[in-house]
Amino acid sequence: MQIEFAESRPTGDFALVLPSAGAMRPGVTALSDSAKAEFVLKRERFEGDSGSSAELFVDDDRTARRVVVVGTGADSKPSEIAEKLGGTAVAKLLKSGETHAVIDISGLGFDADAAARVALAAELRSWRYDQYRTRLKDKQKPTLDKVTIVGGGAGAPERWANRWKPVAEGVGFTRSLVTEPANVIYPESFVERCRPLADLGIDIEVLDRDQMAKLNMGALLGVAQGSIREPRLLVLRWNGGGAGQPTAFVGKGVTFDTGGISIKPAAGMEAMKWDMAGAGAVAGTMMALAKRKAKANIVGICGLVENMPGGNAQRPGDVVHTMSGQTVEVINTDAEGRLVLADAVAYVQRTYRPSTVIDLATLTGAILVSLGHEFGGLFSNDEQLAGKLMEAADESGDKLWRMPLGDAFDRLLDSPIADMKNVGPREGGSITAAQFIKRFIENGTKWAHLDIAGMAWSDKPSDTYDKGATGFGVRLLDQYVADNLEA
Ligand code: BES
Ligand code: MN
Ligand code: ZN
Repeated sequence: MQIEFAESRPTGDFALVLPSAGAMRPGVTALSDSAKAEFVLKRERFEGDSGSSAELFVDDDRTARRVVVVGTGADSKPSEIAEKLGGTAVAKLLKSGETHAVIDISGLGFDADAAARVALAAELRSWRYDQYRTRLKDKQKPTLDKVTIVGGGAGAPERWANRWKPVAEGVGFTRSLVTEPANVIYPESFVERCRPLADLGIDIEVLDRDQMAKLNMGALLGVAQGSIREPRLLVLRWNGGGAGQPTAFVGKGVTFDTGGISIKPAAGMEAMKWDMAGAGAVAGTMMALAKRKAKANIVGICGLVENMPGGNAQRPGDVVHTMSGQTVEVINTDAEGRLVLADAVAYVQRTYRPSTVIDLATLTGAILVSLGHEFGGLFSNDEQLAGKLMEAADESGDKLWRMPLGDAFDRLLDSPIADMKNVGPREGGSITAAQFIKRFIENGTKWAHLDIAGMAWSDKPSDTYDKGATGFGVRLLDQYVADNLEA
């Protein structure tokens, strides 16, 4: 999408997008045929509620113009109004036949950030992946290719270029990784897709099976051993903050999760191509941070494996040695994400001594039972870190809900043969999963675990995404870095 900022409306052919906060709609009143516009809005029973919109054709500037009036509600924050406007404009117009949308925010009193967020939402909502559709009819193809934001004031184009465009690109990168099927994205090809990040100044290191074996990563390698795909541990480093301990982001990158020998039922199993969304979010965040030259030191780790049944697959009851030295009895081979993360978090702590580790994982079906598709689950051993993440969640729109941890849950992982087993009972399934990872967090490391199983993929569109991969986590982590590591 081509995005521009302008101080006044262009002339000629375009669709006009106007905000309406309740009954307040100055943009509509200013149309040359405002009486007709008001008549239509009244007949459509449009009252400007947040989430509502109306579409009409009116005579304007000697042409029949399509006007989209977007309800922004009476008391929303500027940043929310901005994203509602940009997102609704694109959702309504993307395949409408219009090629140019002009979003007029004059008179809303937006600062540069809010104005740039109109562009952010427009860009995010226009993202789609048509790579494999070779028979799209013309009517099914997007027509809109340009958005002009009018009345954003000074500083908006810079804010867009320096902050939100990089974030939109990071989210787009995550969404492509997550959308790709598992015959295209597997550990080695995931790494290859990340190679171009080196051009942005990101240091890339890759560990293969032998290197991980030398480090005793038996938990991660145990998951990988049923697949002919070679596992990888991908390390992406962005050093924009001078000296000082880094912050680590660690992502679960199971490029396909069949469940292994504890195999999943057939229905819906195709969804498990996006079981690498945690790793995808880490990669997209690193892209965003590098593109906007964030003043922070970040190490991003992606634990990449495919979980398959096979002649060499691990069996229920197998005991594996982890890099931390602890042993795990693998009761259920479908509880594989935590096994991957156990070695990935041990590696990052021992190699880079981060002050803080934040892991992201499509870890449990149980988090969907708890939080549905509304919130990611946040687990943390540190109150301050949890608070900062909650704030970043509020600000970014990648919403989180705090979940509990506790010794009583931890005890449910005790094993009769090894230091722990990899599953607890069905009840509290996302909490025992978090407790499992916590056993690999070393003394003094601040840690948060984000269970994003309900958030990585959506079956319905929102203001900032269509159906499909959401890119959840990128805006959240970017906001966390901006507020806490760069301030
Ligand atoms: N990748 C799944 C979790 C998942 C489920 C993500 C649904 C997205 C949607 C994970 O590896 C898994 O299989 N978890 C098991 C754990 C159980 C065996 C303890 C689950 O949640 O059923
Ligand atoms: Mn699984
Ligand atoms: Zn999984």
